[in-house]
Amino acid sequence: MNTTINPKIPRHRVLYATMGLLLAVLLVGAGGVLWLSGSGGNNPISIGGPFTLEDGGGKPVTDRDFRGKYMLVYFGYTFCPDVCPTTLTAVADAMDKLGPAASRVQPLFITVDPKRDTPAVVKQYAAAFGPNIQGLTGTPEEIAQVAKEYRVYYAEHRTGSGPNDYSMDHSSVLYLMSPDGSFVAPVRADESGDEIAANLKKLMG
Ligand code: NI
Repeated sequence: MNTTINPKIPRHRVLYATMGLLLAVLLVGAGGVLWLSGSGGNNPISIGGPFTLEDGGGKPVTDRDFRGKYMLVYFGYTFCPDVCPTTLTAVADAMDKLGPAASRVQPLFITVDPKRDTPAVVKQYAAAFGPNIQGLTGTPEEIAQVAKEYRVYYAEHRTGSGPNDYSMDHSSVLYLMSPDGSFVAPVRADESGDEIAANLKKLMG
């Protein structure tokens, strides 16, 4: 039986539908977290956590290196044909629209394709969108760990028999993390720079 999704339908579109649902669950869940924490319950949703990755120069970088700033975390890959470039363009635009408040935010682009996205590749890619977006990569194990902590879905999707004949399916959500490293809220990744900036302003107070 052929279960392949019609190749004419961009797979990201299918993912968007799935992620919209997931995001709704997440938002409802986040409301539940606030309510529960007010009543002393255990936090049922944990998003984010410690990570060790490599920066654009191949140096180790950890979540602790970003303490004191909000992290705006996005997972994707540099060969992404549509969603990642659109999102990073919007993030760069949002940083511009934030004005001085942009200095409180560090946008991070974490690759889910560490095989192809070397430190030099993610560095050049992220910098092409905006000077303040930092690209991070790591070993496949490190990427798997951080993706698990952020509840990120990603999977290799073969497009041919060659070693580089694949794309990555991946979820598309921006995660706002507070200056102490804890999860603040998901931020929609499919909105304009203006809308993302407005959401960030609200969330950062
Ligand atoms: Ni993408």
